[in-house]
Amino acid sequence: MSCVGLFGNSCGDRTSDNTANTSGQITQSTIEMPKPIMPTTAQETFASVCAVCHGVKGEGNLALRSPSIAGLPTWYVHMQLDKFVSHQRGTHPQDMQGQQMHAIAKALTPAMKNAAANSIEQLLHFPTTSALCGNSCKGEDLFKNNCIDCHRYNASGEIAFRSAPLTGLQDWYMVAQLIKFRNGIRGKIAGDEDGAKMHLQTGSMTDEQFRDVVAYIADLAQRYRSEP
Ligand code: HEC
Ligand code: HEC
Repeated sequence: MSCVGLFGNSCGDRTSDNTANTSGQITQSTIEMPKPIMPTTAQETFASVCAVCHGVKGEGNLALRSPSIAGLPTWYVHMQLDKFVSHQRGTHPQDMQGQQMHAIAKALTPAMKNAAANSIEQLLHFPTTSALCGNSCKGEDLFKNNCIDCHRYNASGEIAFRSAPLTGLQDWYMVAQLIKFRNGIRGKIAGDEDGAKMHLQTGSMTDEQFRDVVAYIADLAQRYRSEP
């Protein structure tokens, strides 16, 4: 019996930005990056600093290559901000987007980090949708064989494994990160044990398989909408 994706992907209804994101080339966006303003109180950090690139609802921005961070749990936000500060993420010369976050994270005080993480956790997450024409049936096999042990049956991540919640991230962002992990642009710095797991995991995977597995994660995001 042929397998049909659960929610039917709507393929190709985005602009050529998709190709730029999934070609394997990590290039700097040609548009000028917005300049965040430093807030006067820590509570204003999300609105004054983070929202400039991640959107007022934390929904992300394809043109800026900034992910949807709405609803990410505080432990994961702190973990990634610490990695950006400690050079474990965002210092590779080809990681233009990570370098932006490295600069931002370094400028935050502990109070600002706490306030931003709390604001982000309270935002409603945006369930992943799929427009990259991946085959979610093949993606299901890939996910069940290679990802489920760490990211859970519903791809919601697991604090015990420090694995990222995936179902609120955009498809193009996940594919871009999987390419970065595979190509050693993320997950290869000494001390980044979590990233190293992803580098190992993606080592023999193709871009097509990344699109397939992300299509299945979009299915999971719809199926478990009430379990962010
Ligand atoms: C100048 C634009 C810009 C600003 C301002 C900005 N970010 Fe980011 N952020 C990005 C980009 C681009 C990425 C993707 C990095 C990558 O591709 O690895 C990112 C990634 C992240 C991630 C990693 C998400 C994940 O799923 O791993 C977190 C967490 C994050 N940002 C939090 C913040 C917080 C908190 C603030 C405000 C204090 C902030 N960002 C401000 C552009 C920005
Ligand atoms: C051995 C455990 C493990 C396995 C197996 C695993 N992951 Fe991960 N994954 C992690 C951890 C830990 C992180 C956080 C990495 C970091 O801190 O940079 C992560 C991060 C990610 C990210 C980045 C999320 C973000 O917000 O930037 C994506 C996407 C991802 N994994 C997808 C997958 C997919 C798809 C598979 C299967 C092909 C998979 N993972 C298999 C542990 C795992």
